[in-house]
Amino acid sequence: MDRAHAASLDAADPLARFRDAFVLPEGVIYLDGNSLGPLPRAAAERSERAVREEWGRGLITSWNAAGWIEAPQRLGGKLARLIGAKPSEVVVADSTSVNLFKLAAGALSLQPGRRTLIVESGNFPTDVYVLEGVCALAGATLKVLPPDEVVAAVDQDTAAVILTHVNYKTARRWDMAGVTAAVQAKGALMLWDLCHTAGAVACDLNGVGADLAVGCSYKYLNGGPGAPAFLFVAERHQAQIRSPLSGWMGHAAPFAFEERYRPSGDIRGMLCGTPPILGLSALEAGLDLQLEADPALVEAKGQSLCRLFIDLVESRCAAHGLVLTGPREMAQRGLHVSFAHPDGYAIVQALIARGVMGDFRDPDIARFGFSPLYLSHADVWDAVEILREVLETRAYEAQEYRTRSAVT
Ligand SMILES: Cc1ncc(COP(=O)(O)O)c(C=O)c1O
Repeated sequence: MDRAHAASLDAADPLARFRDAFVLPEGVIYLDGNSLGPLPRAAAERSERAVREEWGRGLITSWNAAGWIEAPQRLGGKLARLIGAKPSEVVVADSTSVNLFKLAAGALSLQPGRRTLIVESGNFPTDVYVLEGVCALAGATLKVLPPDEVVAAVDQDTAAVILTHVNYKTARRWDMAGVTAAVQAKGALMLWDLCHTAGAVACDLNGVGADLAVGCSYKYLNGGPGAPAFLFVAERHQAQIRSPLSGWMGHAAPFAFEERYRPSGDIRGMLCGTPPILGLSALEAGLDLQLEADPALVEAKGQSLCRLFIDLVESRCAAHGLVLTGPREMAQRGLHVSFAHPDGYAIVQALIARGVMGDFRDPDIARFGFSPLYLSHADVWDAVEILREVLETRAYEAQEYRTRSAVT
């Protein structure tokens, strides 16, 4: 295999035109869109308009005139199309962690006789931490179980199972339809974390009959650093579910300023406080861009990039101790690829110094994301050649690559 082969794959790429829609610095191959997506050009313009015109000139009238007050539902409606939900089932608000808190507590509110939540070990830590907090407050029990024990452990006391569709380290992908059905057959609710799914791999929440879901928008949806997250509540649960964060935006009539809380009874009941308009504005540009791309093509190209990366690393960087973690089968994985190596941190730093941006996850994982809208197969080839040079010259052994930063 050579670079010409990679370039020939790009020549047939139906998503190639999207690359120009992003600001990608010269000399950078960006393999970290699974952590923070790059800046869509339209997001810069949209943010500028939100700041200068809507805020600067419109001032408070923009809550009505610029559609600020409906932004959580409007963006939720757009995002719904990417995850197989109805527009009335999704809102964009808060962070993934906060949304998980609301929905996990909400799941307990929907299942009065059941007092246990089950989560997989090896999940992204915030999920487990948040569920610990929910259970402590609610007097419920949290079971943290190895992934292959989760479904069998669901019993009559299980209110909900919380799983991350695509694992943040290994990229292993759950069988969403099969697991949802198995969990629901035992009377429990299924709550999916879609952080590494939305904008990357196909997802049909209503097709599989999922109950609840959360996810972030700063990865494959390119919403920007700290962009607001999303949550999904299936229509059938919306009248009964109760948010523990009963803020005024979830009230049936926020501007009636009633003395006591009265939940809205639809998806707005999962909102809490004033929406972060500047973050929502930038995200809307990213969402509009994503909606122009066929999700099936997005997933197929992402898989092609991942397959090429795995093949090239294993053939061209063999004998340097990189071990693939997670499944090799594309249907069982998401769009990032992790290799374990004892010097994983230093290798990633040496790559970043050479313009190849990936990230590191403790204890030894060098992680690379293959976001389909702006990466090419030639990028993958070039990145692997730089990795090969770093490994062969042992450039990563330099002291400067060994000091851990706060964010890895
Ligand atoms: C699976 C998963 N859940 C949650 C989060 C983060 O949640 P938050 O947006 O609240 O920081 C991440 C971040 O990478 C994640 O990978």
